[in-house]
Amino acid sequence: MAGNKKKHYRIAWLPGDGIGKDVMEAARIVLDKVQLDAEYIPGDIGWEFWCKEGDPLPQRTIDLLNNVDAALFGAITSKPTKEAEEELIPELKGKGLIYRSPIVRMRQLFDLYICLRPCKAFVGNPLNYKNDIDLVVFRENTEDLYSGVEFYPVPQEIKFILQKLSKNFKSFENLEADEFAISCKINTKKGSERIIRAAFEFARQNGRRKVTIVHKANVVRATDGLFLETAKAVAKEYPEIQFDEANVDAITMWLLKNPNNYDVLVAPNLYGDIVSDLCAQMVGGLGFGCSGNIGERLAVFEPTHGSAPKYAGLYKVNPIATILAAKMMLEWLGELEKAKLIENAVAEVIKEGKVRTYDMGGNNTTIEMAKAIAEKIN
Ligand code: IPM
Ligand code: MG
Repeated sequence: MAGNKKKHYRIAWLPGDGIGKDVMEAARIVLDKVQLDAEYIPGDIGWEFWCKEGDPLPQRTIDLLNNVDAALFGAITSKPTKEAEEELIPELKGKGLIYRSPIVRMRQLFDLYICLRPCKAFVGNPLNYKNDIDLVVFRENTEDLYSGVEFYPVPQEIKFILQKLSKNFKSFENLEADEFAISCKINTKKGSERIIRAAFEFARQNGRRKVTIVHKANVVRATDGLFLETAKAVAKEYPEIQFDEANVDAITMWLLKNPNNYDVLVAPNLYGDIVSDLCAQMVGGLGFGCSGNIGERLAVFEPTHGSAPKYAGLYKVNPIATILAAKMMLEWLGELEKAKLIENAVAEVIKEGKVRTYDMGGNNTTIEMAKAIAEKIN
């Protein structure tokens, strides 16, 4: 999963919008301190480019991503504010375009099939749910309910086929095309197998004891059934790792009740999205959730939080999630020593508790936090 360590890196630098710019500035302070030999090449992405060009992921950014070793990404609007929508969308809607977060497209376009979300509690973080949580979520990142195969209004031919094939569920039968909608949950065996294998490989390489498969196969028989069956087959290749499975609803309760029963979790896209937010909250919430979107050739690292437009440019938000995303990027590049330096520095600053952003109950700025972390790196 890790890239090959080399001397000089080309990193796509994608701040995006809202607080994306604030937290990326902070991450850069820390990256500069570890003296990664890299050029950071800015790329255009997000709401601003949608407004200007009708495309939040312009072709030049795709070209850039095709020519870099990795990317660090800040945040982008996934759903514009009502005002922004009213002001700008009518004109674009006329062109038949609808704004969608480009992160989902980027994941699919570059086949970044692993969404890796480590959730580890740092000692001294006042936001910890429990102090010894150390969970790692592997979320499938390209298919499932995120396939983008959706219908609204529903074309006549689709309705016709469903009417023919659906045995019990008939509630849409007498409805007009715009009175119901369909979003397809599409899961492939290949897509399921590679994310499950990635989770088991990670467990093996990192001395983890257990992998829990998150699903809802008792109800969603076809897709989640396939996911679970595939997992059972893959697990046989890893006899030293405990195989565990849980329904997605139940695991949200059990995770809260006893997080230490879990270790590595692997889930289809939507369940992984939800469960990873839950796990992130247990280790401090938005300011601490970091994420890697990882494919065979390219990986894009990001904080899990959104663009929080109301805080944009105020340098108020916690940059630790982005700094930890940068740390994950270094790990993926094979720069393990530099990654460790960053992780240790973050741990020290949190443990000392002298510098804290507002979410942690303090009043330090985004940049002060980044500088405090950078100062711990020698
Ligand atoms: C995430 C986010 C995204 C997702 C949104 C912003 C499209 O929630 O990365 O978890 O749903 O994947
Ligand atoms: Mg999410």
